[in-house]
Amino acid sequence: MSVKPMSYPLMEKLVALSRRRGFLFKSSEIYDGINAVYDYGPMGVELKRNIKNLWWQDMITSREDVLGMDTAILMHPRVWEASGHVQNFHDPMTECKKCKRRYRVDHLPENTAVCPECGGELAEPKQFNLMFKTRLGSTDEGAMDVYLRPETAQGIFVNFDNVVSSNRVKLPFGIGQLGKAFRNEITTGNFIFRTREFEQMEMEFFIRPGENAQWLEYWSQERLKWFVSLGIAPEKLRLRPHGKDELAHYSSACYDVEYEFPYGFSEIEGIADRGTYDMTQHIEFSRKNLHYIDQDQRGEKIVPAVIETSAGVDRTVLTVMADAFWEDETNDRIVMRFAPKVAPFKAAVFPLFKKEGMPDVARRLYEDLRKHVATVYDDGGSIGKRYRRQDEIGTPFCLTVDHESLNDHAVTLRDRDSLEQVRLRILSDS
Ligand code: GAP
Repeated sequence: MSVKPMSYPLMEKLVALSRRRGFLFKSSEIYDGINAVYDYGPMGVELKRNIKNLWWQDMITSREDVLGMDTAILMHPRVWEASGHVQNFHDPMTECKKCKRRYRVDHLPENTAVCPECGGELAEPKQFNLMFKTRLGSTDEGAMDVYLRPETAQGIFVNFDNVVSSNRVKLPFGIGQLGKAFRNEITTGNFIFRTREFEQMEMEFFIRPGENAQWLEYWSQERLKWFVSLGIAPEKLRLRPHGKDELAHYSSACYDVEYEFPYGFSEIEGIADRGTYDMTQHIEFSRKNLHYIDQDQRGEKIVPAVIETSAGVDRTVLTVMADAFWEDETNDRIVMRFAPKVAPFKAAVFPLFKKEGMPDVARRLYEDLRKHVATVYDDGGSIGKRYRRQDEIGTPFCLTVDHESLNDHAVTLRDRDSLEQVRLRILSDS
């Protein structure tokens, strides 16, 4: 189905809130922006960083069987020949002969021959390669064509032997990384759902061939649970197996974790059985011995198979934001109901008035709190305005210092979602 960008009220509200509160801006906005590229503002970068840190913590730090890496965006061009991206990383594209708009053929209703925007005739579909090409080297003669990586995974495959020979690892084990990827998408839109520059959180899990089905099932369930752990409503998440016609050129089976956006269930992560495809290709193209030597099986040489988990950071940010957005009509406010662990700030401290010692107590409380959790100090405008501001950036707890606080060493703690207020003792200086 063709989807017009920004045609859904929730998406439009998210775009407006993101701009108003500093989550996301169009890249190069003062020059009218650049299509499908976004900058994260002060609130957005905190939200995004929290998501990336949680992924790293849950997928790498807390697991004995997964190691981390951070590989370069630019790689030798042979990598992309070996991986099959030069030959296969295409989308079918058509162009309107009248208005010149371009469409992905698989995003149009079946057998459409006319432009959905102007009714003009659509040209014969062509295959369009999604990789961005650039030149590496200072002189024209010495320069070579290289690509901005369209997935982070290849950096892991080409380093398989480096990791195995420099670390004590045994199959099955994983290597994960997060970083930028680039795709010259034909159709973009729905805010940061499909952009041309984005980040991925990928993990390649190396296994003995034959164990594919059990690990595909294991990682699909693990990854679905991870999104629930971010506070996303479980009933809006699902796992969907790919049909044979949807599979990428390297994969023999795949599950998508999908979230129900206003425009329908859409992929936020893919869990794919890449089999031995990538390792076999790199062995052939590089002529290097990238086999795993199984010491437990008297030195048997194995080409490991791979189960991949591949999530988009930006799609996760969008999912978390779409799921958290709440128009509380009873109280006439907009609230981002983020789980505290992803919220940009966990607490806000307000002095009720900028006088009579209140700011001193409030600042001391703020300085204490920020040593432990991300905290914001706000003394601008009415208390109601300050609450609204924090609601819109999703701060779960607001603490107000008032006249009484000076005597009873207590503050009013207000819960973002229930609006319940309780009096909470804070430690006095003595
Ligand atoms: N290494 C496998 C791979 O890249 P993919 O399904 O093409 O698989 C994985 O991408 C994830 O990367 C997607 O589930 C999505 O979250 C994210 N992603 C892919 N293309 C994107 C784009 N143009 N904009 C934002 N995120 C994107």
